[in-house]
Amino acid sequence: MTRRSPRVLVTAGPTHEPIDAVRYLANRSSGRLGEAIAEAAVGQGFETTLLLGPIPREPAPRWRRCPRFERCEDLRRLLASEWPRHDCLIMAAAVADFRPRQVQAGKLRRDGGVASIELESTPDLLAESASARTARQFVVGFALEPRERLEASARTKLSRKGIDAIVANPLETMDSTCIDGFLLLADGRRRDPPRSGEIDKGEFARWLMETLTPLLEARATG
Ligand code: CTP
Repeated sequence: MTRRSPRVLVTAGPTHEPIDAVRYLANRSSGRLGEAIAEAAVGQGFETTLLLGPIPREPAPRWRRCPRFERCEDLRRLLASEWPRHDCLIMAAAVADFRPRQVQAGKLRRDGGVASIELESTPDLLAESASARTARQFVVGFALEPRERLEASARTKLSRKGIDAIVANPLETMDSTCIDGFLLLADGRRRDPPRSGEIDKGEFARWLMETLTPLLEARATG
């Protein structure tokens, strides 16, 4: 019997959390690293689904399966339907940590005086997906942290969220074309790309998928 290759689910881009009918809370994520990772997964021969947030460009036409999301809640619904039929989740999306508690009807008006917006925490989709996974599913998260405490914070996040691996990124990666990141595994090992320093996101994505491939295959076969 031939073994099925792992099915990979990648999330990419920011979320937009509505404030009123015309405004939202967002972040500077470009979605480029996540899209490059999805492309590298296809390059490894894996059936790949990309869940893509609101970015100001069309995704490449090669994405046959590319459901779109705007809010954290939309992505949560997509994960609920997509995650069970995949073997690996790579959570590169920059999901908002906070959202307005109430969405104002219509448009907040200037003549209402100083406006204040009450924020509430969003659900941690990565931790939720990790706790719902089966023994054969593999979960990779991301940590975007100041360079001086990158490794320590990423290790804490890896164990707090109960995931299998985490890509540690310095904050400057957010809307840059390059990345100076590395991978930490749940067993404590650290993997670095062969070239140190900033490398192109496409090159990093290919290295990441090549590094993850044997781990995914091992997990898929138990
Ligand atoms: N993430 C998520 N759901 C959220 C927030 C973040 O799934 N509501 C995921 C991101 O996709 C990323 C990882 O969690 O893979 C780390 O995100 P980050 O914002 O760095 O960490 P937080 O969990 O938000 O922790 P903190 O704000 O304390 O750094």
